Amino acid sequence: MSNRLMKAVQYEGYGGGAAALKHVEVPVPSPGKYEVLIKVEAVSINPVDWKIQEGWIRPLFPRKFPYIPGKDIAGEVVEVGKGVKNFKAGDKVVSQLTHATAGGLAEFAVAKESITVLRPPEVSAAEAAGLPVACLTAHQALTCSAGLALECNKLPADHRNQVNVLVTAASGGVGHYAVQLAKLANAHVTATCGARNIELVKSLGADEVLDYKTPDGSSLKSPSGRKYDVVVHCTVGIPWSTFEPNLGTHGKVIDIAPGLASLMTFVLKKLTFSKKTLVPLMINAKRENLEFLVRLMKEGKLKTWIDSKHTLSNAKEAWAKSMDGHATGKIIVEP
Ligand SMILES: NC(=O)c1ccc[n+]([C@@H]2O[C@H](COP(=O)([O-])OP(=O)(O)OC[C@H]3O[C@@H](n4cnc5c(N)ncnc54)[C@H](OP(=O)(O)O)[C@@H]3O)[C@@H](O)[C@H]2O)c1
Repeated sequence: MSNRLMKAVQYEGYGGGAAALKHVEVPVPSPGKYEVLIKVEAVSINPVDWKIQEGWIRPLFPRKFPYIPGKDIAGEVVEVGKGVKNFKAGDKVVSQLTHATAGGLAEFAVAKESITVLRPPEVSAAEAAGLPVACLTAHQALTCSAGLALECNKLPADHRNQVNVLVTAASGGVGHYAVQLAKLANAHVTATCGARNIELVKSLGADEVLDYKTPDGSSLKSPSGRKYDVVVHCTVGIPWSTFEPNLGTHGKVIDIAPGLASLMTFVLKKLTFSKKTLVPLMINAKRENLEFLVRLMKEGKLKTWIDSKHTLSNAKEAWAKSMDGHATGKIIVEP
């Protein structure tokens, strides 16, 4: 494949937003020993993509320019490395690319076998491409960080979780998955979002929804008077003092976009042995979890709400939409 050219979208330095994305033709990459080459059918845009462009994690990433962004892809395997055991050409898959190489905004991309998963015909490429960063984060927050068991309806009634979960920014990429997964954990779910998305968030399973622009919404107070055991916090700018009175005795705020104030709260709560805690979360993507999420989707227990679909030639539009911060669900580019 290495002599063939493909269409891709890349940038050549930090900053510049959507305007700095360039449409180029570059060689189709070759898979390494434990990698697969995927013909990309769908790639989702995440805030981390443009945050990397803005230099939030420099000098770690990008390691070099030019850089083709895009981490979450779904498509078809067209070539496999010599050491690949689980995939062959023709397999439909979903995968998460690394920050170091990324490469999703292109016709072809190379993915590690270790974080690539088969995609059954029931799960479309666009729906699957939404999963890796956003849904794995929601899953990790609820399981690893909060300790909830999903699909606990398979357990005897007296073993089921009965927790109150708050999801902030429940209309966003991570939040809309968090609502659905929290319901699979048998939780009572309170959610915040803008007025235009209240019905959508209810349809995803939320038991009560607050408009974040109203006084009740900004206080995060549960309309039914519940105290939260777990908060999956998917936005920024809400201080600990707002969460604190709404938390149960051992309430835990899992902050997926922690800033300096959150990190200081995390340390302070540790040092003072506080029962109410804040947990900063960094995604640690695991293949078995992605497999689990794909299975849930196949079984109709989890869905991706698609904000919008864009062609590769309109990737700038998708990028700008993500930077705007008002997506409902996932933004998808289809090369
Ligand atoms: N730690 C990690 O590993 C990790 C992983 C994934 C994501 N993240 C971070 O988590 C954050 C969320 O990611 P995402 O993909 O879900 O973002 P997103 O899809 O861009 O979120 C957009 C949504 O958030 C809503 N929103 C914004 N401010 C709100 C507020 N104060 N209250 C309620 N809703 C609000 C918007 O609603 P309106 O349009 O109505 O305003 C919109 O629907 C980002 O900062 C991202 O970088 C971190």
